[in-house]
Amino acid sequence: MSNRVAHPHIVDQRQQLKQALQKCRQSTIALFQTVDYDTFCRQAHPEFSPVGWHLGHIAYTEALWILEHCAKKPRQFPDFGCLFIADGLPKAERQNLPTFAQVQHYLDTVRSQVLDYLEIADLNQQERLWRWLIQHESQHSETITFVLELLKVQSGYDIQDLPSAQPSEMIEIPAGYFEMGNDAIDAMDNERPVHRVYLDTYWIDRYPTTCGQYQEFIHAGGYQNPEWWSDAGWQWLQQAQVTHPLYWQNVTSDSPVCGVSWYEAEAYARFVGKRLPTEAEWEKAASWDATHESRRTYPWEDNLLGDRHCNHNCTVSKTTPVDAYPDGQSPYGCYDMLGNVWEWTASLFQGYPGFTHYPYIGYSQVYFDAQHYVLRGGSWATRPWALRCSFRNWYHPHIRQIFAGFRCVK
Ligand code: AVJ
Ligand code: FE
Repeated sequence: MSNRVAHPHIVDQRQQLKQALQKCRQSTIALFQTVDYDTFCRQAHPEFSPVGWHLGHIAYTEALWILEHCAKKPRQFPDFGCLFIADGLPKAERQNLPTFAQVQHYLDTVRSQVLDYLEIADLNQQERLWRWLIQHESQHSETITFVLELLKVQSGYDIQDLPSAQPSEMIEIPAGYFEMGNDAIDAMDNERPVHRVYLDTYWIDRYPTTCGQYQEFIHAGGYQNPEWWSDAGWQWLQQAQVTHPLYWQNVTSDSPVCGVSWYEAEAYARFVGKRLPTEAEWEKAASWDATHESRRTYPWEDNLLGDRHCNHNCTVSKTTPVDAYPDGQSPYGCYDMLGNVWEWTASLFQGYPGFTHYPYIGYSQVYFDAQHYVLRGGSWATRPWALRCSFRNWYHPHIRQIFAGFRCVK
């Protein structure tokens, strides 16, 4: 009797992983449908690699972890190894890339061996790594999406006047303990372990800050007045010379602000007499079910993620009004906690008590450097495998190229 008949659960698991790998890959490739070779190789911004590099890096990472580490195969495509390794060439030297067809051949070759290996892989030992790998591709897929968006923004546009907006509604979150983090098999190292956290009562915005609301900050001279900015923020602004969010073209009054640095989020919060939430405050408002004293993977009741819950997975491919997903409300009644835009928090990226790195120190731990702030919630471009209340993203506070907005607390 074969192993697979003896353990039907493992057969399901293999099938499930295979389907996720294929679905994720299909979505990644779809992003390149209208990408020409110039766009494939172009560096849109000094901090981000060309989209073609990200595509090759996805194959490189899959080959490294599955074919080399697990299957113990020797490295194939040694030239691609040097090019697509994460800490290899400086970002500015990643513009001489093979063609899309060549990178796709690399992806396909690696993938077919990976799927062969999946049939015999010891998933009791490796499931976590496979789940990590799908989320690795998911995250690069989102980076590819905003780098492509960035290339569009640079053509320049006129600033429109938006209808004015109401101040944000706020929700009271009563004092008490909640459970933060995630111990599930697909949880990243930085989400672990689950731990109890006590928070005093606070009030949180029901919705992310909208463009209509943010426009009042712009019209009030917010970008010209140091009063609202931290020293570091003002210093950044003098050099960045910006006057509105990066993704400010064709926005509506009720869509969330998208394309702000942490400094801009911080300044706006001060302008309205509020502050940014800590990530604990954010996560409690998103995931804590006080009635059942339990944490949810998603804000809504059913443990499934669909298009009716939130704007994600490039289904709409732009931001949506912040009240568009009533089915996505959290137990406390917050909207848009997942999808639409990432939300900056007041928290520096750190390991939770008892943190252990996985699968390598460079994934999370090297960023526990008091220089990166945590973002929560995912965006319209976040893949389902990387979208949940406990998922933590992190960037330097001056980064405004990602699909990031914020909500405030007091
Ligand atoms: C967590 C999104 C900041 O893209 O640099 C990808 C994720 N780590 N490959 C990044 C990541 C290694 C990371 N972010
Ligand atoms: Fe990577």
